[in-house]
Amino acid sequence: MYRMATRKPADSAANALIPPRPTLTSLKNAAAGCKACDLWEKGTQTVFGDGARRSRVMFVGEQPGNEEDLSGKPFVGPAGRLFDNALDEAGIDRRQTYVTNVVKHFKWEPRGKRRIHKKPNATQIAACRPWLEAELSVVKPDVIVALGATAAQSLIGPQFRVTKQRGEFLESTLAPYVMATVHPSSILRAPDDETRRLEYQHFVDDFKKLARVLK
Ligand code: URA
Repeated sequence: MYRMATRKPADSAANALIPPRPTLTSLKNAAAGCKACDLWEKGTQTVFGDGARRSRVMFVGEQPGNEEDLSGKPFVGPAGRLFDNALDEAGIDRRQTYVTNVVKHFKWEPRGKRRIHKKPNATQIAACRPWLEAELSVVKPDVIVALGATAAQSLIGPQFRVTKQRGEFLESTLAPYVMATVHPSSILRAPDDETRRLEYQHFVDDFKKLARVLK
């Protein structure tokens, strides 16, 4: 079994913000004021997870992007639309899932007038960890699906390679199973249409495996 990267509680100022007997609403309200790392200064708002409280599956991405930062909801931009289409094709209803990110503020740098995504670092991921742990403690999913390497390595371990082990159901201390697949934005960045079509199909196939496990 893969051991989590960090089993001891993350050393984060966010720990002090977790309400007793948390609910998704009380967590979301508390996270709105989180300053456990420096990213709160850059983001418009905390983008907390969203979805059904007793979801059997929790999807975990990296961090909100530009549209998520503006709307306050995870996976609503271009990557989110691709994610929605893939879920539809696999017969999974997003409304019966919970969707979140390992980091809940948008990290970006300016390029001209645009805000360009920057990968969160280990300190920022650790600072945000108590929120993810709290979401898991409330939702108690049967399966966690990591979307992309940042989420996979944070949830499964630094040695995990999405390219080699995507689509495998691994036992975990976080939930009965954890599975990882690629990040939907990596499909959007494919170099040509044919590669994008194939990568999208592989992504849908991973979700179809998930749908079979959820049946
Ligand atoms: N990418 C992510 O990892 N999460 C989002 O919410 C949006 C884009």
